[in-house]
Parts: sequence; structure tokens; C-alpha cells
Amino acid sequence: MHILHISTECYPAAKAGGLGDVVGTLPKYLTKANIPTGVVLPKYANKWIQQQEWKTVYQDVLDFYQVTLPFSIQQLTVGMSFPLYVVDIPSKYDRAGVYLDEEGNGYIDEVERAVCFQRAVLQWLAQQDNKPSIIHCHDHHTGLIPFMMKHCPEFVSLASIPSVFTIHNAEYHGTFSWDKVGLLPLFDGRVRGLLDWDYSINPLAVAIKCAWKVTTVSPTYMEELRVQTRGLEQLLQQEKQKSIGILNGIDVQVWDPATDQFIDSQLVKSVDRYKANNKRFLAQTFHISPKLPLITFIGRLAREKGADFLAPVIDRFLNKGGMAAFIILGTGEPILHQMLLDLKRKHKGIVDVALEYNEKLAHQLYAGSDFLWMPSRVEPCGLNQLYAMRYGTLPIVRAVGGLKDTVEDIQGTKGNGIQFKELNIEDATIAVQRAANLYLKKPAAFKKVRTSIMQLDFSWEKSATEYIALYKELEILTRSST
Ligand code: GLC
Repeated sequence: MHILHISTECYPAAKAGGLGDVVGTLPKYLTKANIPTGVVLPKYANKWIQQQEWKTVYQDVLDFYQVTLPFSIQQLTVGMSFPLYVVDIPSKYDRAGVYLDEEGNGYIDEVERAVCFQRAVLQWLAQQDNKPSIIHCHDHHTGLIPFMMKHCPEFVSLASIPSVFTIHNAEYHGTFSWDKVGLLPLFDGRVRGLLDWDYSINPLAVAIKCAWKVTTVSPTYMEELRVQTRGLEQLLQQEKQKSIGILNGIDVQVWDPATDQFIDSQLVKSVDRYKANNKRFLAQTFHISPKLPLITFIGRLAREKGADFLAPVIDRFLNKGGMAAFIILGTGEPILHQMLLDLKRKHKGIVDVALEYNEKLAHQLYAGSDFLWMPSRVEPCGLNQLYAMRYGTLPIVRAVGGLKDTVEDIQGTKGNGIQFKELNIEDATIAVQRAANLYLKKPAAFKKVRTSIMQLDFSWEKSATEYIALYKELEILTRSST
């Protein structure tokens, strides 16, 4: 059995969010479990990709909407523990950003980009003698693949290969108008309905309909999707039989406080010393008092992540006399940047912000903070709470999606973080207050939780086993159908 993952992100080649982490890690663990696994992604013009050495393994042209687009498939020669391929389509992907241009705007040809990437991959695979046993696609950018494999005569040689589709974020469907149907290769007109959702072509819906198996990244998110998927609820209920939620893991080699090169002070023996040193480093960098509990937010400044709640909740908490310091790291909506800069000005020495994407600083913040705050509206899995716990930082989370599955509310001697249910200023402020109280009034209990969460096992081993079981089920299905 060998698996090919098709994705627009794969760390360290290209990452815009958690999808990159997952596609960069799961194949490592599958390979370790003796399931040969490769990844293919577009060849972006970013630094990492440009610095590597690539070997061309396939060349062809795409007949794309009355133009001919040359493309090639290139394989990384050294540097990863699994085969990594990129699709080089110069006119479409010779840009650094995965989804956004330098000004932070989405590309105007994003539909064309997604379709030609998917078609190029299938064109390549259709010509291979040694085809993958299973094709695993991720999010809507690869959502047309399960359809094209089954229903395009050009890809008939791929029709019997099972496809798995993983939903990392169902907020985005990749919907486009039927006017663009000509971007797709010739397909069996009788199944036109599979492409349609509400009079448009909706790649997320197409994948849910056509993939052999649909997974998402936590059991709770799978349940939530059946009630709230921006219009696809009924479809997900219908496809319940083939759907499953498998919790993501984390790369415990990259995320290890004992070896992390990004942090000021690595964990040697004493958790107290490791935390204190890293917090001191942050306190100096950000000019805040190390005596206060330090609560951090790391992530996209977007509504989805509840980032619009940060400024009002912090303001309310501090105005009520709350004692804590806050650091916010991330970029996103300009209006939220402004709100946070105003908040920083108002609460100088208590609130600080770094409005940027900064992987190194993120590591330092996990190591030096006391709490990581995730007031998400939607959170399919969330990886940050897992990184935080491994680094001895207690999560404060809204009980949603994967956050609900991984953070148990502290009650008595049980629990590994603080949960709150409703996303409103009142409940979020109470959660922050509970965190500050735990730190300031019950230091022994706080430290006990801190040490115990560092021992929790969120490695990929367990989740990889679940994916392997799923792949095996599909393999048995193909064997019985031939
Ligand atoms: C998306 C989700 C996040 C999840 C990640 C990886 O970024 O928003 O919750 O952890 O994908 O699956």
C-alpha cells in the first residue's frame, strides 16, 4: 500500500496554517509505520522551495481553457523523510504566497490556480505505471480530484483508486460559478449534478459527495459540521456512513522544549526554571512584569479565531482590576490590528502585540507564557493548544471542535485547562479571571497542572494508527470489488 497526499500546504515547503503542519507531519509517521507515503503540492516561488534541489520526473502540457500550459512534476532530491513532489506551473504558481499576494489580498485567478494544480497532478498520475494505492486530498483546493478521478475519461486509469478527503476547515468551500466549468476536463455529463451545490460548483461539497471516505480533524468538529457547515449540513448527514473525525497529532520532534533551538532556555530538569527563564526573556523583550500571569494569543487575527474578542475582553478584565499581562502574536484583519494597537497604547506595560507571522517567537511564547488563550468561534482541531501543553502552558479555550476534545476543564484535581462555553464578553472574561486566580491564588495547583500537561501524549502515533485503519479498510474494499 502506498499513499499520496495532495495538498496546497506542507511544512516546511509551504505553510499558511495548521494544514501545513499536518501534511508535513502525518506522512512522516505513516512512513515510520511502514506505509510509504508521498506528498505533492504546488511549486510556489518561496524561499524554502527555491533553496532546495529538485529533479524533474515528469513533463507535460495542460489543455487549459483554450490555452496550453506547460507544467512539470519535480521531486526533492534530499532533505525530507518522505518523497516530496512539487507541480511547477510557471504562469500560475511562480508567486511566493500560498493564498495571498504581498498586500494580503487573495489571488484573482485562485480558481484557475486550484483547478490546474489538480489537473496536472492527475495527468501525471494517470501516466504512471506504479500508481498510488490511495489518494488523500486536503481541503477544497483539492476537492475536485475525487470527482475527476471517477468521472473524467482522461483519468479512467485512476477511477478505481480510493480517495480520502480531509476537511481541515469547512469555513471555505472554494465555490465558483458554472461559467467556469470549461476549466475542467471533459467529464461524463450524466453526473453533472455531483458538481452542483446551490447553482454553483462547490469543491468542498463535490469532495464530500465523491470521496470514498471523508475525515475531519476532530470527532467533535465532525458532529458540529452536521449542524453547521454554511449550507452543507444535510450533505454531511447523508454521508455520515463514510465520515469520521480523527484528532490531529503534533510533531513531538519539532515541538520539544528540551531541544527547541528557537527558545531562550531549553528544558533541562526543572520545569520551574525552564518556565521562569523563558518568561523573563519575554518580559524583557515586551517590557512587562514577570510577576503577573502571562496570557498569550497566537494565531490569525480573524473572526473565526474569536480574535475580535481579544481587545474588549482584555479591556474589561483590566478595567475591573484584573491582574495579568497579555501578549498577542499574529496578523489578520486590519481593523483588529488597529483595535489591538489602541489597546496596547491604553494599557502600556501590561498589553503588548507583535502583529506579524513569526514562527520563532511563537515557540518562545509557548515556552514562556503561563496561559494560551483560544477564544475560537470555530476550531476544527487546533494545534496551538497542543503545542502549548507540551511547553507547560495552560490553555484557556472555548469549548468548540477539537478544543473541546483536547482540553478538559480544571475541576478539583482533574483537568488540563480552562474551558468556557459561550462566546460572549462576559463568559470569556470570567475564563481569563479564573486563569489569573489560579496562578495568583493557587500557585501549587497551577504548577501541578503545568507539569502534568507536559506529560500528555499528543503525538501522531495514535492518530496515524487511525488513518492506517481507514486506509486498510479501503484496501479491502478495492480488493473485494476487483
Ligand atoms: C485548520 C484548522 C485547525 C486545524 C488545522 C489542521 O487550520 O483551523 O483547527 O488544527 O487546520 O488540521
